[in-house]
Amino acid sequence: MNLSPLISVSYISKATQDMGLLALMRLTDQATQRNQKLDLSGVLFYENQHFGQILEGPPVEVMTMWKKIQLDPRHQEVRLLKMEGVKERSFPAWSMRFFLAKEIIQKMPNLVGVLDGLPEHDVELLRLMRSAAE
Ligand SMILES: Cc1cc2nc3c(=O)[nH]c(=O)nc-3n(C[C@H](O)[C@H](O)[C@H](O)COP(=O)(O)O)c2cc1C
Repeated sequence: MNLSPLISVSYISKATQDMGLLALMRLTDQATQRNQKLDLSGVLFYENQHFGQILEGPPVEVMTMWKKIQLDPRHQEVRLLKMEGVKERSFPAWSMRFFLAKEIIQKMPNLVGVLDGLPEHDVELLRLMRSAAE
């Protein structure tokens, strides 16, 4: 059978402790290096003690990383937004592109409400995460 060669996982979560810039840089740096080796790509957001991430790549690698990420003690209340097969990558150039959501909020002020974790904003949050990297 012809299985989808790529999947994408997106989630939001709450940082266990407010992350300082240094801790965020360390996380992103490690993620970028490992993702490169694993053929993973995506974007990571941080704002208001919340993470948002879209991770994409070959199904086995994405699923293995997704399990690992969910167990990471640096965050909790990890909530899956969407998991789907995709025909192509949305972020082919980025092993993991990091944004402070402030950068996006300046353009799209309604993201502030989204980051309070209201479920009805899931679709909008996904759209914003995707559009941010364009
Ligand atoms: C919000 C968040 C996003 C993460 N994203 C990635 C990622 O994209 N790639 C990655 O390798 N690790 C990521 N990590 C780190 C993993 O959870 C884990 O610490 C890392 O893969 C090291 O695994 P190891 O203990 O097997 O070496 C993330 C952690 C958090 C808290």
